Amino acid sequence: SSSLPIFSQEEVTKHRSLEDGIWVTYKGGVYDITEFVAMHPGGDKIMLAAGGALEPFWALYAVHNQEHVLEILSDYKVGEL
Ligand code: HEM
Repeated sequence: SSSLPIFSQEEVTKHRSLEDGIWVTYKGGVYDITEFVAMHPGGDKIMLAAGGALEPFWALYAVHNQEHVLEILSDYKVGEL
């Protein structure tokens, strides 16, 4: 992961639509989840985190506190904050 680019929060915030791409952050990582949103088992709720941090939402929806969820997320990593 040390070879991935560094992005600013401002850059992440620009990515919150299917047109511009949908990015989120988690524990200092930046993820482009554009291709995942249509596959999300929790439906459109995932868009609440678009352009921002997953942590506040995953604190509310503990279903994400599982290894297999982190494995899915890791597939979409594009950089670091
Ligand atoms: C369920 C992944 C973001 C709300 C799930 C499940 C996965 C998943 C794999 C099914 C878990 C299981 O049943 O074992 C992800 C990923 C996310 C993300 C990879 C970000 C990249 C969010 C956000 C919200 C959310 C931001 C809320 C704002 C939910 C809800 C469910 C769910 C409510 C339960 C759906 C149900 O069982 O009826 N998510 N999620 N998710 N997710 Fe997400």
